[in-house]
Amino acid sequence: MAELTLRGLVKNYGPTRIIHGVDLDIKHGEFVVFVGPSGCGKSTLLRMIAGLEEISSGELRIDGVRMNEVAPAKRAIAMVFQSYALYPHMTVYKNLSFGLETAGFNKAAIDERVQRAARKLQITDYLDRKPKALSGGQRQRVAIGRAIVREPKLFLFDEPLSNLDAELRVQMRVELSKLHADLAATMIYVTHDQVEAMTMADRIVVLRAGRIEQAGTPLELYNRPANQFVAGFIGSPKMNFLKAAASTVSDSTVRLELQGGGEVSIAGPIAATTASPPVTLGIRPEHIDIADGGFPMAVNLTEQLGGNTVIYGTLANGQALVVQLSGQARISRGDKVAVRLPADKCHLFDAEGRSLSQQ
Ligand SMILES: Nc1ncnc2c1ncn2[C@@H]1O[C@H](COP(=O)(O)OP(=O)(O)OP(=O)(O)O)[C@@H](O)[C@H]1O
Ligand SMILES: [Mg+2]
Repeated sequence: MAELTLRGLVKNYGPTRIIHGVDLDIKHGEFVVFVGPSGCGKSTLLRMIAGLEEISSGELRIDGVRMNEVAPAKRAIAMVFQSYALYPHMTVYKNLSFGLETAGFNKAAIDERVQRAARKLQITDYLDRKPKALSGGQRQRVAIGRAIVREPKLFLFDEPLSNLDAELRVQMRVELSKLHADLAATMIYVTHDQVEAMTMADRIVVLRAGRIEQAGTPLELYNRPANQFVAGFIGSPKMNFLKAAASTVSDSTVRLELQGGGEVSIAGPIAATTASPPVTLGIRPEHIDIADGGFPMAVNLTEQLGGNTVIYGTLANGQALVVQLSGQARISRGDKVAVRLPADKCHLFDAEGRSLSQQ
């Protein structure tokens, strides 16, 4: 296990700043997931931790020791990439043992580690095969095995599952979570798949354009997003955002007028003084009800997913709204329904996208 301290980490490529001063503490044995859109700097940050990218300024400490100038091989880190990069001419066994041989381990110690990792990852039966005779999921397990045999303090994963098909991804997700519990190792996992982040992470770090937008447990980010970016990034289908103006504001209630008609009251206390118009009201699709007396909505499309129904509609004011109902709703294209936005599930954001809801 390892604990990490990132202080003011900056990465410049020539005149371009890619990582803008990241501060983060990662605890022993924590499973931390970096998420964010393509190009936000997830891989760069991970590679800075691994020692594969130079740190332009700031400090990286592992277990209290400054690592900025320490070579990657000396950081007790193992990294698994999206491309498995296995040696094609070597057997699975050799792929696992090779690094240990180079590091000077004796044959018996190597065999013990290889067999143990193979059992953990259920690849014992394939040890004599070459990578080309394995499925994608099996190859990815060999790549993870190669990391495990080194018994690192810290595992870094960069989108290791994105080459796998959907079913295998779900299966490997579960296996990785088990592995984390089993090894009690600190893990940092990069993905742009928010479902992976929600299901695997002890803590999610949401990055945007080289900055941390918010760090917290999956449910903290889901329930109390600090801003509109995080609110829109975490949760699927995405949170709806409706333009609104705060008409009356008291200590206990904010009355919102939706653009083009309709009113919603949200219980306070909300940062009332800053809730001046315009604001954005956020509501997750799964929190909206279909109920008499609600706002009229025209249904444009429905998706029947079996367990739930996703409805794409338009409000009277022309704004689009996505509603998710559990079960198989008998609603179809062309229907007119009424939607209710429960006040206690509404989020409020200011013009800069900062959350005005009680944190
Ligand atoms: N060697 C380099 N020189 C200049 N810019 C670079 C270099 N490597 C990466 N970048 C830029 O740094 C930014 C962050 O890249 P990075 O690979 O960390 O993104 P990412 O979050 O991992 O994205 P993705 O989800 O697509 O993998 C991008 O804008 C990229 O173009
Ligand atoms: Mg990347």
